[in-house]
Amino acid sequence: MATNEISYRYGQKEDSEAISELGARVFRASFASLLPHDDLSAYLRESYAPTSIAADLQDPIVTFVVAVRDGVIVGFLQLRCGASTSCIEGVENKVQLQRLYVSESCQGLGIGKHLLARAEQESRGMDAGSIWLASWKPNAKAERLYEKIGYRKVGQMTFMLGDVKLDDWVMIKSI
Ligand SMILES: CC(C)(COP(=O)(O)OP(=O)(O)OC[C@H]1O[C@@H](n2cnc3c(N)ncnc32)[C@H](O)[C@@H]1OP(=O)(O)O)[C@@H](O)C(=O)NCCC(=O)NCCS
Repeated sequence: MATNEISYRYGQKEDSEAISELGARVFRASFASLLPHDDLSAYLRESYAPTSIAADLQDPIVTFVVAVRDGVIVGFLQLRCGASTSCIEGVENKVQLQRLYVSESCQGLGIGKHLLARAEQESRGMDAGSIWLASWKPNAKAERLYEKIGYRKVGQMTFMLGDVKLDDWVMIKSI
């Protein structure tokens, strides 16, 4: 494989450390300036612990796809079946795009868009009719990307990060 070529494959349980490290690092780099330090650290310790990611990797209703460059995982997405929130209760056969992270040094190379296209392919394979996600309101860059590829806002939800209440847009795309 040529240096810098990016390949995509399913995440496996052996990837838990790499995904955990990447997800926590990119989350911190992207959002630390907007969140209280202690709540952020507690959230990352819990949600991005290798054991927590390993449990997700082995959960049959969860799918991970990873982007790999030079043998290193530089991006990943996490899809979850069966999850919902109040404003989309009436939508059947939907899959949640739960996480999407690309390494800081690899952002802007098209990996995010490729992973989002792969999310649609995977979801169609599960006979889903739509993909939904929650996008934190201050994350305008992600929101623009989602809108550009056809997600639309259908409501709002809150997410508790420690003691901090975060306001998210709920966005959905028919596939
Ligand atoms: C959001 C994210 C997944 C996008 O991944 P990416 O690989 O950088 O995205 P792509 O290279 O496919 O680019 C997608 C679009 O974003 C734009 N973009 C990418 N990096 C950018 C940057 N640093 N600044 C401004 N725009 C940028 C691209 O220009 C592209 O738009 P275009 O189609 O008009 O060219 C990535 O930036 C990321 O991990 N961010 C931090 C975590 C996050 O916000 N996750 C999503 C919500 S949980």
